[in-house]
Amino acid sequence: MNKKFNIDYAWVDSFWDKIEKKLDVVAPQIETPFPYLIKDGKYLSRNAYWWTNGFWPGMMWLMYLQTKDEKFKTIAENVEDALDEALYGFEGLDHDVGFMWLTSAVANYRITGNEKSKNRGRNAATILAGRYNPVGNYIRAWNERNDGIDRTGWAIIDCMLNIHLLYWAAELDKDPRFKHIADNYAHTVMKHFVREDGSTNHIVGFDPETGEQNEVPNGQGYAPDSCWSRGNSWALYGFTLSYIHTGNNEYLETAKKVAKHFMSKVDNSGVPRCDFAQPVEPDYRDTTAGACAACGLIELAKIVPEDEKDFYINSAIKLLKGLEANCDFTLDNQSILQNGCVDYHNETFNLPIIYGDYYLMEALLKLKGNDILFW
Ligand code: GLY
Repeated sequence: MNKKFNIDYAWVDSFWDKIEKKLDVVAPQIETPFPYLIKDGKYLSRNAYWWTNGFWPGMMWLMYLQTKDEKFKTIAENVEDALDEALYGFEGLDHDVGFMWLTSAVANYRITGNEKSKNRGRNAATILAGRYNPVGNYIRAWNERNDGIDRTGWAIIDCMLNIHLLYWAAELDKDPRFKHIADNYAHTVMKHFVREDGSTNHIVGFDPETGEQNEVPNGQGYAPDSCWSRGNSWALYGFTLSYIHTGNNEYLETAKKVAKHFMSKVDNSGVPRCDFAQPVEPDYRDTTAGACAACGLIELAKIVPEDEKDFYINSAIKLLKGLEANCDFTLDNQSILQNGCVDYHNETFNLPIIYGDYYLMEALLKLKGNDILFW
């Protein structure tokens, strides 16, 4: 183990070992290629187009990196094959192609050099680039839903995790076109989503003909001017990754500002509330926000000067301790991390969600030093 930080590595190992032991048994039992939410301890499936479909193969690649056990590689490869229905079916895909293919096909390519996986990643990057509106410098988030709401000009903070597919494709082909789109979108987010205090909007609407900002609709947080904690964590980790891909200091400063805001809102439990400005009661929490933020904080701790490291690494450990208290390591339940929140307004509270498990594992593997950056 590469011991970079002054932390309790024996605790990191024991936390990871509990996860590895559970997944060793549970992973081969999960029949669906697209696990998402849990009912009665078993994963429910989504269709091939669902935005979270990259997280299960991502977890299997993390297990493979750590154990070198071929059974995890095989599961990841099978899910990647199943995702072709969406990649080549196209209808219904949106900006979340980054979440879907960075931790499946691109992870496969990074680990094994698989050429078919590389080209799946390129296809997904091309779809993402095709959603860029050069007038407003934003990437269109969602498609129409037949509910009368015009989403043509909507961009969302979540895309700060998707754009790394564009940095990857630009680097792969030594052609900066896709990088420029990623950078332009990141600048739009700095200007229109990240507030002075490091809190963030979830959705910003632009006029697709002129590029002018025309609305800040409510998203998955409490209110348009509140701060949805998972959205804040997408910004925290997303800007950190943009800095890693570009070396642009503006991204690093933005990531640090968001990280300081995020941690200023986390109480001693180490588990973020679903929205940092929600009413005190009911006390809804979102473990998934903590897991994603922990990944960004660990990467920041690696980057910042020596005298700043303690804040970031101690913050990551505080979140991970909070997550550990919310884990189910038994075999009665296929998921590990409990008490996530999909959406403040849809009564989707206290749920295990597949991306909570994914980011928790990614964070622990970063500390163990056995990760490859999939983003
Ligand atoms: N990207 C959607 C979410 O975070 O729920």
